[in-house]
Amino acid sequence: MPPLWDPATLANPHAVADKRQRVQRMFAAIAPSYDLNNRLHSLWMDQLWRRRAVKMAELRGGECVADVACGTGDLAIFFARALSRLGTLRPGQVVGIDFTQPMLPLAQRKARALPIAWLNGDALALPLADQSVDVVSIAFGIRNVADPAAAAREFHRVLRPGGRAIILEFSLPTNPVIRGLYNFYFRRILPRTATWISRDRTGAYQYLPESVNTFIDRQSMAQMLSDCGFNDILQRPMTFGVCICYRGVKN
Ligand SMILES: C[S@@+](CC[C@H](N)C(=O)[O-])C[C@H]1O[C@@H](n2cnc3c(N)ncnc32)[C@H](O)[C@@H]1O
Repeated sequence: MPPLWDPATLANPHAVADKRQRVQRMFAAIAPSYDLNNRLHSLWMDQLWRRRAVKMAELRGGECVADVACGTGDLAIFFARALSRLGTLRPGQVVGIDFTQPMLPLAQRKARALPIAWLNGDALALPLADQSVDVVSIAFGIRNVADPAAAAREFHRVLRPGGRAIILEFSLPTNPVIRGLYNFYFRRILPRTATWISRDRTGAYQYLPESVNTFIDRQSMAQMLSDCGFNDILQRPMTFGVCICYRGVKN
């Protein structure tokens, strides 16, 4: 597959007109090695971040969860296990949704006996009824959708009153020294090693750091959630601010 990203489109990948198609083709290409690259390049912190996101959702027994842009299913699996611990996991109570079809069989295989429903669907037109779930989550996905505010409005639509939107997303350390060191790793080292591991030709691991560096900042993310109707917005920075967990409540 020819590269999907070049220096011109990487200057601001969010402004590219066909971002949706590029993102979908890129994730289809890297799906088989996606987990290995995640674990290695985050030193297994990615799973810790997802566990904290589940905690921030403050799940109650019997609640329904939709994990949007579920990828290979890690966050949906953590939610299903949390509901199982509460003794209330029923089939279909956790739904994982992604628009990249090759991600879904990988998720299904990992979930084994957990009764999670995996759906091929778009964050911008969720295949869910109004006010049908208690938690909507999205991990490392909001940055990849073509219109993050439209996705947040969809989250608000499908949540019941009292429901929580949980957004896990990369950010950059606020300390300038740590930020410089991190960006050296993120922009110079990771793209080479992750591309080598995945044998990727699409430019996915050049896109990753540039899409983080050009994405809306924390304040704008909180403002966006507020503009979409969410209240009580919380932000929890993790690992020097490399990753932020946002929570907004629908009243
Ligand atoms: C970086 S991966 C994150 C996967 C997973 N949530 C995780 O924690 O590893 C981003 C995922 O977002 C999905 N995605 C991007 N835009 C989407 C959209 N508009 N609708 C549904 N899924 C989308 C991609 O297919 C990809 O699987």
